Amino acid sequence: MRDKIGEIERIAIEEIALASDADMLEKARVKYLGRKGLITELFKNMGSVSPGEKGEIGQLINSLKNTATKAFDEKARGLLGGRGTGAGKIDVTLPGIVHDVGHLHPISKTIEEISGVFISLGFKVVEGPEIENEHYNFEALNIPLEHPSRDAFDTFYLADKWLLRSHTSPVQARFMEKNKPPFAIVIPGKVYRPDATDASHSFMFHQVEGLVVGDNIRFSDLKGALTLFARQIFGEKTKMRFRPSFFPFTEPSAEVDISCILCSGKELRDAENAVHKCSLCGGKGWIEILGAGMVNPKVFKNVGYDPEKVTGFAFGMGVERIAILKYGIPDIRMFFENDIRFLRQF
Ligand code: DAH
Repeated sequence: MRDKIGEIERIAIEEIALASDADMLEKARVKYLGRKGLITELFKNMGSVSPGEKGEIGQLINSLKNTATKAFDEKARGLLGGRGTGAGKIDVTLPGIVHDVGHLHPISKTIEEISGVFISLGFKVVEGPEIENEHYNFEALNIPLEHPSRDAFDTFYLADKWLLRSHTSPVQARFMEKNKPPFAIVIPGKVYRPDATDASHSFMFHQVEGLVVGDNIRFSDLKGALTLFARQIFGEKTKMRFRPSFFPFTEPSAEVDISCILCSGKELRDAENAVHKCSLCGGKGWIEILGAGMVNPKVFKNVGYDPEKVTGFAFGMGVERIAILKYGIPDIRMFFENDIRFLRQF
């Protein structure tokens, strides 16, 4: 039996080596490893081996089977790797395997688009920490202790005086403390608020903040920059509206609307010619997109600037809101569910 095993191994290896194409190799494989192959037959003959030798002979046949299988596989790979067009050869004219190429998340893309408009105006991009303290998130920005945004319902508090920043405005104060005017910066990043999640609320979202400080910066500069921004993002025909508002860190402050991108303020009529309300603006004709204003002199004092010498404007917008409007997305949660069918569309 041992001799037989050795002999089969010798001729099998020789035959594999001699096989010059896939057909020959397959015939040899069937001859040795097929259902009625020589090696398979050896297993069937185990019955005639004496009980004392069974273990050792069994191991020898197993090892022969492994050696032969490996030799066949290696040879097959060698034959396939060869050039030419014969059976079993690789057809190099077949299209290759197309791999998925990743791309930016729609929120990252929107941040880049928004920042891009301001970069083209000479702004620099600056970032700041997501874990903030009360000083930068509130006090430096003239937000008093009794302000509702300082309530635990509106801000995630951590240990001591630390919190998850509820807006990107604290980076204004951090930047001004370390830099001298003139400068123009945009600050993109994540912010956190303990809101219950629904179609338009998320406990984490993104903002882009803007700050320009220098000599004789005027409200008209703010209007010019924001009008250019809105036209680049929502189209050349976009109209702007600045409504008086209040923020502790700007004076005067404004809420900024764009003309509705769905109805442009015009009456909408259905197939029966009946008037119906625009689903986006509710018939108002305007959509709010951001808050802005002239930097409050108290904020300049807090960071060590002389409010008699410098002026500036600031603005802050929600990135998800801009993306929802621009791309017509019905639910903010879609940004964070990681559904490839949604993300692929951007
Ligand atoms: N920080 C404000 C918010 O989160 C947004 C904002 C409004 C930022 C006016 C500003 C500004 O810089 O001037 O609601």
